[in-house]
Amino acid sequence: MADLSVNYLGLNLRSPLIVGSSGLTSGPAEMKKLEDNGAGAVVVKSLFEEQIRLEADHQAQGMRTDSMMSVGDLEIFDYLDYQVKEKYLTGYLERLHQAKKSLMIPVIASINCVSSSEWVAFARQIEEAGADALELNIALMPAHTDITEQQIVAIHQDIIFKVKEHLSIPVAVKMSPSFANMSWALRQIAQARPRGLVLFNRFYSPDINLDTLQVQPAPKFSSSSDLSQSLRWISLMSGKVGCDLCASTGVHTGEDVLKVLLAGGKAAQCVSALYQHGPQHIQAMNAAMERWMEKKGYNYVDQFAGKLHEFEGNNPGVFERIQFMKYYAQIGDKTQPEA
Ligand SMILES: Cc1cc2nc3c(=O)[nH]c(=O)nc-3n(C[C@H](O)[C@H](O)[C@H](O)COP(=O)(O)O)c2cc1C
Repeated sequence: MADLSVNYLGLNLRSPLIVGSSGLTSGPAEMKKLEDNGAGAVVVKSLFEEQIRLEADHQAQGMRTDSMMSVGDLEIFDYLDYQVKEKYLTGYLERLHQAKKSLMIPVIASINCVSSSEWVAFARQIEEAGADALELNIALMPAHTDITEQQIVAIHQDIIFKVKEHLSIPVAVKMSPSFANMSWALRQIAQARPRGLVLFNRFYSPDINLDTLQVQPAPKFSSSSDLSQSLRWISLMSGKVGCDLCASTGVHTGEDVLKVLLAGGKAAQCVSALYQHGPQHIQAMNAAMERWMEKKGYNYVDQFAGKLHEFEGNNPGVFERIQFMKYYAQIGDKTQPEA
């Protein structure tokens, strides 16, 4: 029987299929169900830096207006800030600790962050609670007009450096799909030496309702066709960034995971498909991978991993232009009357 085991971030996974950070991984019982259905690892629902900050600010604001405290009472605000952080963190650590007690597969903690502020000191407690690795979801939307791409990259590096100072477990970074020069950004961020890069995060997308004339969220779930962005960049960057690459966005089937492995990825994260089909879909995905491996005569993932890495060659710009011309030339030909 085909062996699906892989190594990602230095962790041994029985399957390359990881359940990504989401409501599916919010509690130990939910995560256990994912393990029982064959997940290789789970990324716990993120602890949100901004949520903690907002609540601390909100409570401090309330105290200022309710009790006529002066802004000079800084100590109490610092204390409040600390209390709020502790409240969020304690709940998170408890869930992590319980998950580690009941699961055999690796449990990867996740923090959604926008800066390297004081929360970084909490990273140590996450490690102590038993997390096997930490995934940083650095959620800097490329929508600010007053910040350059270089500055966004520098913030990534700063966060990674500071987090790594506190930790001995591996750190992975979940990347935004929005960089004008993706290969430059990935190489720069990799210089901060994360153990892995997760390509890519999926942001909220807007849509417009023509009946109500209101802006509304676009569908929150992806489809298999969204995988191509991850596939392209995994294929181009594998072996060039000195760390593991993992896919996220558009991984819906066992065949999708196989494509990620062929492109040079070490593992693939799945969320939307599991919301749509339930945790038992993991079994179907693993079975599809095994069937394909048996059909092709592969016993181990290493026998085919990375076979199609760099399928776009060393010069992605040239490749893209050639494909663009070929693609549209073909469509043009089909519209010509038959000779
Ligand atoms: C309901 C929902 C909740 C999510 N929560 C988080 C989160 O807390 N942290 C995070 O890093 N990503 C979160 N994500 C993003 C997913 O981890 C994943 O990157 C994204 O859904 C793309 O993968 P998919 O195509 O398999 O859905 C969430 C996604 C969904 C649909």
